[in-house]
Amino acid sequence: MNLNIGMIGTGSIGLVHLLSLKKIQEDNLLSKHGVNIKIQGVADIDENKLNNLKRNNPYNVEYFTTNPDEIIKDKKINVMYITTPTKFHKDYYIRIAEEGKHIFCEKPLAFSLEDIKEMISVEKKQGVLTQVGLVLRHCPILWKLKQILLENDQTFGMRLSFIFRDAQEWPIGSRIHPSEWRKDPSLAHAGCLFEHSIHDVDTLEYFFGNDSKLSKLFAKIRYVSPLTQKRLEDVATIKFEYEDGFVGNLISIWNKVRMDERRIEIFFEKGYVVLDGYTGFSFKKFEYLIGRKKTRLKLNEIINEYLKEKDLPQITPSTGPYFFENLHFLESIIKEEKPYPGLEIGYKAHEIIELAYQSSRENKILSLN
Ligand SMILES: NC(=O)c1ccc[n+]([C@@H]2O[C@H](COP(=O)([O-])OP(=O)(O)OC[C@H]3O[C@@H](n4cnc5c(N)ncnc54)[C@H](O)[C@@H]3O)[C@@H](O)[C@H]2O)c1
Repeated sequence: MNLNIGMIGTGSIGLVHLLSLKKIQEDNLLSKHGVNIKIQGVADIDENKLNNLKRNNPYNVEYFTTNPDEIIKDKKINVMYITTPTKFHKDYYIRIAEEGKHIFCEKPLAFSLEDIKEMISVEKKQGVLTQVGLVLRHCPILWKLKQILLENDQTFGMRLSFIFRDAQEWPIGSRIHPSEWRKDPSLAHAGCLFEHSIHDVDTLEYFFGNDSKLSKLFAKIRYVSPLTQKRLEDVATIKFEYEDGFVGNLISIWNKVRMDERRIEIFFEKGYVVLDGYTGFSFKKFEYLIGRKKTRLKLNEIINEYLKEKDLPQITPSTGPYFFENLHFLESIIKEEKPYPGLEIGYKAHEIIELAYQSSRENKILSLN
């Protein structure tokens, strides 16, 4: 079997996926399945970007095109990556799914819940497999945090409250994101909550969604930056309440501080967990306390534990969680299993975010069904 891969959008995240795929190839991680991968074709509307990529061709791409249709219609390609600005995700998704190709689609999925429902129905009709780029679900550090929650469920006692903080430098012309489209609502749809903290809203579901359902939320969203003529939010605060009384806050910020970090604090009757300075790849502090016993975690130990858990050899996952999400996606396709997270999980995160916008607009506490 050959996985012949196509990609639309070779910007920042497109390259991170290409780098991850290269590492999977170089380390022969799919050879146990008797599968080869090949980057068949990549498309981007920016010819300069394609030419730069073509020059040394570090990913051994078979061909480059400014016409995405060429890739979509290429019968040799059976797996596609959608890594364009958000506006284009849905249309490309539907056109690619109609060609029967499996799809990795970056988050956010689309501009409305109706659009995501349409994507889900096309996925079902065409019988294709989809993974959504909610990459933190494949992050060893958050995996470890979830293990701590599961393993110490009884000893922590009742869960009381949490604080999630996601702070990122405005991703326009910044060190992290040199993009321009993120300031244009017709391409990005919305700001820090939709574009970035969708990961945090999803992480809340990943950590807490199985224990007790999210029941209510109350949000305040602010539109401050002149960069966007105040059209995209740069502050979002959401208060969450779960059926068991667990309450907490998410704060999402875009500002002009050179920073791209998260902080998570979870408090229990008899303990707490703190993860600070978390970037997806590393952290400054990760510890938990039960009674009087404090445990500090080390990054290399977490990675080793994760590799063991996933039955992987001693590798250095240079693209961190992106490496693991790509490996999971390809292995799911090989095994013809539903990749994780899929469109339904993506839909849930979008649903919570839509409710937060509504809550802020109407200045109301809203209930979830
Ligand atoms: N999961 C994550 O951690 C993560 C991280 C970054 C970005 N993203 C998501 O990935 C998507 C892309 O973000 P990015 O940071 O790579 O942006 P980017 O601007 O760096 O790259 C986007 C690329 O798409 C190309 N493009 C624009 N319109 C196109 C079209 N109609 N057809 C084909 N190509 C087109 C651009 O020329 C550019 O090369 C966004 O939806 C973003 O939210 C996800």
